[in-house]
Amino acid sequence: MMGKENFVHKGTPFAVNVHSEESLNYAENEFPVLDDDIFNVTYPKSGTNWMIEILNLIKYKGDTTMSNRVPIYERSPWYETIFGKEQVKALNHPRIISSHLPYHMFAKSFSKSKAKIIYTMRNPKDVFVSNYHFAHALQIFKEPKSLQEHMDNFLQGNSLYGSWFDHVKGWMQMKEDRRFFYITYEELQQDLRGCVLRICKFLGQELEDEAIDSVVKNSSFKVMKDNKMANWTTIPSDVLDHSKGSFMRKGTCLLYLHQKRLMCWSMPLFVLALTTAVPFSVVICVF
Ligand code: A3P
Repeated sequence: MMGKENFVHKGTPFAVNVHSEESLNYAENEFPVLDDDIFNVTYPKSGTNWMIEILNLIKYKGDTTMSNRVPIYERSPWYETIFGKEQVKALNHPRIISSHLPYHMFAKSFSKSKAKIIYTMRNPKDVFVSNYHFAHALQIFKEPKSLQEHMDNFLQGNSLYGSWFDHVKGWMQMKEDRRFFYITYEELQQDLRGCVLRICKFLGQELEDEAIDSVVKNSSFKVMKDNKMANWTTIPSDVLDHSKGSFMRKGTCLLYLHQKRLMCWSMPLFVLALTTAVPFSVVICVF
């Protein structure tokens, strides 16, 4: 059973029994980064597991054997956690390694390597909402007392892994580095295929069209939600209380939803305005 207590390391909250001073110091100062490593870095709830699925499918050229056999968190463990050290050693190469670490705590040995980092960011409103729901179910989080308290903690950087704002700002220092690629959850939502092609290009992976089709299909929300190896149902209920919420919750994006809503309502309303006496200003007010 995991603990719900946090401790602070270099000013950032981490979870007792998931992280330790030792695991964090190892991750920063001793972890040997290999030239073919691919890091999947995110602030929690920004699409980490989505990117794990995409990267795994690209690695195996669209073959779904691993996706259907191995739990997603074992295919790309978080190297800064207590168990991460051994789990990473067991990975096939190229290793796909996840991390939520802020920039200033990341593996020092990365600087001299040719390894690559993919940083996925998501708008903070959706990160916060996703985090709020997840916090009720995952035992490593302190259960939020109220939405307001959770919001205060989020804004003050008292959430696990610290402030979303500092995380993004920190990692964006790398944006001109050729080993660094950043993408947003919203871009993945709007054009998954286009994103997969860009990721392949960054990784130097050439895939046939059929393989790309498989990556896109098998990393879709629906397929991942139905895949026991991707939807976290393999996690014991004393770690993730499945009765309080599923990992694959909604998978929606605020901006995209607004766009869709706008598209749905705009045409009928404009037609209504043109064909009846409804004044144009009334139509505009509806938005
Ligand atoms: P919601 O809680 O908003 O549904 P992380 O992996 O960083 O913990 O992020 C989890 C969020 O990513 C959850 O968001 C989850 O539903 C969403 N997600 C996971 N796989 C996805 C997919 N294939 N498509 C869209 N969203 C996905």
